[in-house]
Amino acid sequence: MWRKYTVDLDIIGNGSYCKVYKAYNPEGKKLAIKVMPDIEVAEREAKIMNRYESSPYLPRYYDFFILNKKAHLVTEYVKGKSMGGTFQNTVLPKMDEPVSIAITINVLKGIEKLHKIGYIHDDVKPKNIMLYKNDPEQLKVIDFNIAKKITGNKEMHKELQDVCKLCALLLNGSLEDIRSTEFENERLGAVLLNPFSPDEEERYTSARQLIHQLESFL
Ligand SMILES: Nc1ncnc2c1ncn2[C@@H]1O[C@H](COP(=O)(O)OP(=O)(O)O)[C@@H](O)[C@H]1O
Ligand SMILES: [Mg+2]
Repeated sequence: MWRKYTVDLDIIGNGSYCKVYKAYNPEGKKLAIKVMPDIEVAEREAKIMNRYESSPYLPRYYDFFILNKKAHLVTEYVKGKSMGGTFQNTVLPKMDEPVSIAITINVLKGIEKLHKIGYIHDDVKPKNIMLYKNDPEQLKVIDFNIAKKITGNKEMHKELQDVCKLCALLLNGSLEDIRSTEFENERLGAVLLNPFSPDEEERYTSARQLIHQLESFL
């Protein structure tokens, strides 16, 4: 038992700075506990998770405590598995265009809640997307460790670049440089390259704008 939680000690996730365990609250509800040695970083993650509006595409925050000098972040247990690793080292079976787009839109809907409280996720990559049964409706963006305060358009450009890289990876199964990627659907390719436009004035400035563009392909 850690505080009031019964913990299954088989690790369900390993991050660079953490170990994640499955646990149960006294009512028997399944939860995830992320254990982190860096208390300050963990407190920041907890604060952000506690502030964002609830979304089907983000895990819910439940509790935070310090035990054995380590931070414990208690959140919703997310079903399914992480989509991969980094953009460079992830190879996936190619996904159909409507599925790739639906996944990308739901990632955007999730991180839009973060943008609303003034942060970008800043670490959107396959590793931080959990998906169950390849169902876009059962997707969650996780890991708010390095979320960054929005100070101008620069942060949003970077965030939307990462999301477009994700979509390109889903469509093509792997990703080298998005700028030299050949897209079967050229109009979709143009949308995904918008956040990389040399003319920064041309770039989308919100998740919502990119969602609207992507919805036109569904
Ligand atoms: N709420 C959760 N439910 C289920 N598994 C999780 C949950 N949070 C994290 N994990 C698992 O643990 C791994 C590491 O978690 P993450 O928050 O990304 O840590 P880090 O900040 O170290 O990257 C994830 O890739 C995932 O497999
Ligand atoms: Mg992670």
